Amino acid sequence: MFTADMHDLTPEDLERLPRHVAIIMDGNGRWARSLGKPRLFGHRNGVENVKSVVNAAFKIGVPYVTLYAFSTENQNRPGEEKSGLMRLLEEFLKRELKTMMGDGIRLRAIGDLSGLPGFARKAVEQTMEQTRANTDWNLTLALNYGSRQEVLEAVHSYARNEGADGAPDWNTFSSYLQTRDLPDPDLIIRTSGEFRLSNFLLLQAAYAEIFVSPLHWPEFGRDAFFDALKDYVRRERRFGKTGDQVAETSQNPVTAS
Ligand code: FPP
Repeated sequence: MFTADMHDLTPEDLERLPRHVAIIMDGNGRWARSLGKPRLFGHRNGVENVKSVVNAAFKIGVPYVTLYAFSTENQNRPGEEKSGLMRLLEEFLKRELKTMMGDGIRLRAIGDLSGLPGFARKAVEQTMEQTRANTDWNLTLALNYGSRQEVLEAVHSYARNEGADGAPDWNTFSSYLQTRDLPDPDLIIRTSGEFRLSNFLLLQAAYAEIFVSPLHWPEFGRDAFFDALKDYVRRERRFGKTGDQVAETSQNPVTAS
């Protein structure tokens, strides 16, 4: 846990923290270029920042963190950058296993792992298996992930299992998505000043709050993350209701759904 002097969230703020934060980590390349360094230097520093932001999230009490680490569209990048990223991923998983086991962190992956190089897929699958019984904190990596592909796969799988005639409700359909074990994201953070979702959790983000930071991912550290949480807890989440209705249910928790 953090002590109060490490962030400026009040006890009331801490009661309202998001349960699930999903992050689009953008800007590694631009950050590296601004320093006259190769893109992979940006990714390496991006991974260091993954450690500090994920650690901050769990320590402050956000139980689910999902990171957009590699999109289906990223497959179009130069081979050298892709294999560099995959090596960084493998290194990260091997290095962090001890912490994950010590801190009760379960690793999951969403996306098509068959599109990753064998060594990276193996590292991801092994870490998922090794951390399967951990229940305190949940780190999900989106790897070779695309939301449209995920939805199409869910439609096909629903049709195979339940027949094409049925009309599923959302609860049934969402159980076919790869995120079936995760709550919907409450907060989506995107770094590097871009205002788009880029094929990330499109259906799951239906009611997510979105926070865009101008900082590039390697410079979006723990304090910037706390600022995003602070911004989130100040927002009124209405889920289609009026502000008055929301105020009424929050004063009268018995009627809150
Ligand atoms: C976006 O920056 C970042 C990525 C495409 C990859 C993000 C991956 C990591 C930080 C490492 C993944 C590893 C772990 C351990 C989760 P960009 O390259 O698109 O930056 P640019 O838009 O400035 O070019």
